[in-house]
Amino acid sequence: MSDHLTVVDHPLVQHKLTLMRDKDTSTAVFRQLLREITQLLAYEITREMPLTTRTIQTPIEEMEAPILAGKKMALVSILRAGNGMLDGVLELVPSARVGFVGLYRDPVTLKPVQYYFKAPEGLKDRLVIAVDPMLATGNSSAAAIDLLKEAGATDIRFLCLLAAPEGVARMKEAHPDVPIVTGALDRELNEKAYIVPGLGDAGDRMFGTK
Ligand code: URA
Repeated sequence: MSDHLTVVDHPLVQHKLTLMRDKDTSTAVFRQLLREITQLLAYEITREMPLTTRTIQTPIEEMEAPILAGKKMALVSILRAGNGMLDGVLELVPSARVGFVGLYRDPVTLKPVQYYFKAPEGLKDRLVIAVDPMLATGNSSAAAIDLLKEAGATDIRFLCLLAAPEGVARMKEAHPDVPIVTGALDRELNEKAYIVPGLGDAGDRMFGTK
């Protein structure tokens, strides 16, 4: 992918995103929509996966047929909201391995601190897709990408549902080599670091914790 930021303006994505933003949308519908949009976004983020060919026999004749080449995918959820995007990608790429990164913000330093990290083996040979629905300040996303790079990942993409300009700028500064695919680029962050207009707390809305 050559662009640092891709906003997927497909009508189905935009329609489903509007339903998700609506504060009256139920937890069950929110979760289902997230799964559906993630599939559509995953379609976009995997667009340039390299192909090779394999000789197969159709019922009619032999052919050289396209098939994904080499690199296997690692999907990495940034806890906890990233978990809501796993199924959507795994439905498209069932063979992907899955990792998890858990970070919390230290109340004194305000810096992200790692509390959990588990990644599939051979990250350096994989296309790594990090998922988190909300790219807000970008601090935890940038820290998660730091950890993935320390673990050997070299080909990383970031998939989110909504992005704030502040988060995109932070990621561009920290990781200009990591393309971002999002459903929308919203206006700004508020004083509590929520995306505006946004959809509220994605984790609370998908897990019904509020
Ligand atoms: N995380 C969320 O869940 N929502 C926001 O608006 C920002 C960060």
